Amino acid sequence: MPTTKNISFTYLEYDMPEELGPEDQELISAAKVAAGKAYAPYSRFRVGAALRLESGKLLSGSNVENAAFPSGICAERTVLSYAISNWPDDHPLTLAIAAMNEEGIRDNGVSPCGNCRQVIAEEEMRTGKHIRILLAGADRVRVIESCSNLLPLQFSKKDLTPDHP
Ligand code: THU
Repeated sequence: MPTTKNISFTYLEYDMPEELGPEDQELISAAKVAAGKAYAPYSRFRVGAALRLESGKLLSGSNVENAAFPSGICAERTVLSYAISNWPDDHPLTLAIAAMNEEGIRDNGVSPCGNCRQVIAEEEMRTGKHIRILLAGADRVRVIESCSNLLPLQFSKKDLTPDHP
């Protein structure tokens, strides 16, 4: 008989984002500004990501598309790659993500794609710290305490090492 396993997680949803602290609000604003700077001529779906590091430093990035579609990169990986390659010891604490289409900022925000979840999860494993994720909509913010919540049963470097008996 198989045993049933269950994976679930909880997150907070703020219908009044002003209840978040000023640092998170600043991060969300930066993600929205970054979305406006995206290079997304093909999808016209503009995404911005803003990252808060342990030192308090705030970085942001956006999606950058390419005529050869797979060569494009998502906003989340733009900003994470920038952070890791320049400040590898200043660990990311919080990542805010916002998206806009031609009508403006999307009401419910956007959740990171599978590729980005894998990259965020790797960074959590590298630093040993959770990365909070803020999915920022026009008037609503969802707060997820760790990327591992979004990527259960994740593939990681542990899978590359031989099993110990
Ligand atoms: N995109 C992101 O930048 N982040 C996500 O989490 C989802 C998708 C970008 C990739 C592509 O440039 C456009 O949005 C449409 O998929």
